[in-house]
Amino acid sequence: MLIAQFSDTHIKPAGQLAYGVADTHQMLQSALDHLQGLPQRPDLLVITGDLVDAGSVVEYQRLQNLLNDLPMPYLLIAGNHDDRDHMRQVFPHHPWLEPQGFWQYRAQASDWPFQILALDTVNAGESGGRLCPQRLNWFAQQLEQSPHVPTLVMMHHPPFATGIGHMDAIGLADAASFADILRQHPQIDLVICGHLHRNIRATVGGRAVMTAPSTAHTVQLDVAPDAGAMFRMEPPAYLMHWWSGTGWVTHHVNAVQSPGPYPFFHPDGQLIMA
Ligand SMILES: [Fe+2]
Ligand SMILES: [Fe+2]
Repeated sequence: MLIAQFSDTHIKPAGQLAYGVADTHQMLQSALDHLQGLPQRPDLLVITGDLVDAGSVVEYQRLQNLLNDLPMPYLLIAGNHDDRDHMRQVFPHHPWLEPQGFWQYRAQASDWPFQILALDTVNAGESGGRLCPQRLNWFAQQLEQSPHVPTLVMMHHPPFATGIGHMDAIGLADAASFADILRQHPQIDLVICGHLHRNIRATVGGRAVMTAPSTAHTVQLDVAPDAGAMFRMEPPAYLMHWWSGTGWVTHHVNAVQSPGPYPFFHPDGQLIMA
């Protein structure tokens, strides 16, 4: 079982670049082409929030047009740039979602040896995230009902400080309460997040937690508390989570065309490296 994780696709209306620089639509198209060129086709694609840049229906329709032709199903969650109501209008295929309210759900399929719990960390009108008591209670309840089901959690705002000052300033409030729930539920194997536009790993409440890179622009690596809010056009990337039978193994994938593949052999057939 393979799950591809894209994040922070930040789709804009036609003809507009994110921050005047990033052609996020074209970059997502190339990342999707890259994904479909891999030797193994993922069973599922998840996109962990900031799907579009300004939460408009027209942006979600452009995203939907790109995702429509995919040969695998996809699951979405909301980020601080998203609008839940507009997401519901354009993406009605999330059968576990309540008709209104938070964009959170438990996803399961008969051939999955695990479940996915999708959380909504959006605090409408704010860049920082929240998990209010209502959302935390729902999360704890789902876990109490399935103590032996391996669980993958996905959410937009990561529940840890990254060191990048301007991003931590718009991080997740209530991270300590969330960590308490993680600590009590060892069936959680992995928590996957977005928001940081970088691949970062941490341990929270004894569980592995990571953020995915963006298919578009990359937040600059600068771990000063007063780091300026800057981005770079590093290679777009995504994550591939492989279910090993006992847990998740994550691969970072650069979504760029690269020379190769080359065999680990000399032209005379002698093995030089493996
Ligand atoms: Fe983002
Ligand atoms: Fe975000």
